[in-house]
Amino acid sequence: MILSIESSCDDSSIAITSIDTLELVYHKKISQELEHSVYGGVVPELAARLHIEALPKILIECEKYFKDLKAIAVTTAPGLSVTLMEGVTMAKALSISLNIPLISVNHLKGHIYSTWIQKEDELPCTILLVSGGHTQIIEAKSLNEMQIIGQTSDDSFGESFDKVAKMLGLGYPGGPVVQKYGAKGNKDAYTLPIPLRQSPKIEFSYSGLKNAVRLVILDEQEKAGDKELSDEVISDICASFEKTAVDHIMMKLKKYLKKAPLEKLAIVGGASANLYLRKNCEELCKKHHAKLILAPLEFCSDNAAMIARVAVEQYKSKEFISLEDIDISSRLKEF
Ligand code: KG4
Ligand code: ZN
Repeated sequence: MILSIESSCDDSSIAITSIDTLELVYHKKISQELEHSVYGGVVPELAARLHIEALPKILIECEKYFKDLKAIAVTTAPGLSVTLMEGVTMAKALSISLNIPLISVNHLKGHIYSTWIQKEDELPCTILLVSGGHTQIIEAKSLNEMQIIGQTSDDSFGESFDKVAKMLGLGYPGGPVVQKYGAKGNKDAYTLPIPLRQSPKIEFSYSGLKNAVRLVILDEQEKAGDKELSDEVISDICASFEKTAVDHIMMKLKKYLKKAPLEKLAIVGGASANLYLRKNCEELCKKHHAKLILAPLEFCSDNAAMIARVAVEQYKSKEFISLEDIDISSRLKEF
């Protein structure tokens, strides 16, 4: 069995997975969403302090499995440096005390393998990764052959939902709440610009769309005068924004697929829970006679089960790292 630790952002999570059967033997996650909600986003130092409390609480429940562990896996990049450090410190201590090797896991590969928890992988596969920090199209041939085809040059898809929610005073994280309001609203109420519509490049950008939403909000606030924005206006803004944000992804995906064949498309990352995005990808896959691969909703956002799943592959190919060499990085250097 492998014990894995995830602390790259605001979720403290530990999982234990069987190397032989891929069974997820144990999994727990303590989310910090409530604590960060008042600030409208994740506060790194607060997140690190909360990991210090949460991770040992979860680890105590894993003690009975310690004798069966063959390795300790931990997310090392990308993520918030101060929070990654908490997971790595715990992983090092466990590796020393249990005298078993360490495995350093790339968080984004974790998201990719979130679709194959308790299952064999289905690589090669085209990946759409949408999270709070990333928006990427990736061609994944195997665990160690992954190529980024296109990515965002500014905000990410999930982050743009967080920023729209913050501007509307809806709290953090923005994705679920914007989706909830959007479901009640009119998607055509406001015409927002689809980013990079004319550009032939496979790349994403969300800062311009965020600004366009800001101007719509200012305009509506002026009309409302002293009153708060009505539920109807908020719903219409959320619906129009969500449609445009997803349209941007779909346009770029379609552009890319004009040149590349599609057999399997996996949508991964916290924002892959978005139902409008899922519906659009379903239609796209139907048109291409391709298989759509989705993670169960509980494994879309950050979790240690996906980290353990990648670690099983790394264990089998003996991809270990020494106590001296293990290091964290806030940015992804390479896949
Ligand atoms: O993967 P994740 O848990 O953390 C990162 O690695 O970033 O993704 C969190 C992001 C947040 O930005 C959140 O607002 C977004 O995913 N998200 C959504 C939805 N659920 C979560 N975005 C759009 N629609 C959703 N339903
Ligand atoms: Zn993530």
